[in-house]
Amino acid sequence: MATEIKDLHNLQNTEYSLKKLFKDAEDFLPLLGTDYVELYVGNAKQSAHFYKTAFGFQSEAYAGLETGMKDRVSYVLKQDKIRLVLTTSLKEGGVINEHINKHGDGVKVVALWVEDATKAWEETTKRGAKSFMKPTREEDKNGHVVRSGIHTYGETVHIFVERKNYNGIFLPGFKKWESHYNPEPVGLKFIDHMVGNVGWNEMNTWCEFYDKVMGFAQIISFDDSDISTEFTALMSKVMSNGNGRIKFPINEPAEGKKKSQIEEYIDFYNGAGVQHIAVATNDIVATVSAMRDRGVEFLYVPENYYDDLLERVGDIDEDVEVLKEHGILIDRDDEGYLLQLFTKPVVDRPTMFFEIIQRKGAQSFGKGNFKALFEAIEREQENRGTL
Ligand code: FE2
Repeated sequence: MATEIKDLHNLQNTEYSLKKLFKDAEDFLPLLGTDYVELYVGNAKQSAHFYKTAFGFQSEAYAGLETGMKDRVSYVLKQDKIRLVLTTSLKEGGVINEHINKHGDGVKVVALWVEDATKAWEETTKRGAKSFMKPTREEDKNGHVVRSGIHTYGETVHIFVERKNYNGIFLPGFKKWESHYNPEPVGLKFIDHMVGNVGWNEMNTWCEFYDKVMGFAQIISFDDSDISTEFTALMSKVMSNGNGRIKFPINEPAEGKKKSQIEEYIDFYNGAGVQHIAVATNDIVATVSAMRDRGVEFLYVPENYYDDLLERVGDIDEDVEVLKEHGILIDRDDEGYLLQLFTKPVVDRPTMFFEIIQRKGAQSFGKGNFKALFEAIEREQENRGTL
């Protein structure tokens, strides 16, 4: 633990220093970034409206009956580098409906942008990944893409997207989505990290998957002594790819006095899945106040959290009163500090939520806030009667 934290602190936030953590000099799965995140949802049209209105996403692309897709409909929304795809089924039965029935609305695909989707599939499947989609070429008048995919935790999958020979709006089969309703963006820039919740004693299995199959390295770990409260406990390890653009923390529940929030998630999601998507902003106060004005609900942070804030985190650029007003959390590590805030679940089940994060040097994940955060989540669990 101590060594890992030290490793993290020694990072210069550069590709070079992160590579020192990697055993293999050659990255067999070079990832250019997150390509898109696809959710299977009960009503894609209404979800799209929510993400436009509340989160400031822009209408980007569409596929459905009008574009020749007979069994499903997908809306693609964009904000800066973040692409969300909302998909629902148009027919009875089938894998999308089964996914929604079992999990509620949730993340199905975490798509990763690669130079070579065939090689990505070959390298990962030969290391033990279960194939979800063999390398497949899709084309239209704008060129061609190659996509391939593998399974990860639960029913979640990674799709590798090779788009260097494509200049269409999203993927073949999609058309530009023209809308007269275009709310302003709220300043969300890119996906900072995406967290997976896995079942009891499964964290190491999945960290090993990201290590062995995808060539990631563990950059940090928390055990229950770091982040447990009186009632709830969890363990977490953060896996990162070679250039640090993709970070996947993996949580598992730990034994506490009452039901942990990870266990609650697993119960309602019926298994492992994506717990939260952390999105970066350059101005968290502006982003959060815009989102709040548009109806997004954030976790309540107790006012006493701010009482000893400056003693804990030292000098910060922001006005503590303003942070307190918005319930923004602050944590510091050796490299700087970060500001973060968590939404309440954005779906009906107590499962998926978003994190808004602004990094000012810090490359960690807000360990110092976990306790305050968990206590806030426990208050919500108590309201739901699931603590
Ligand atoms: Fe997070």
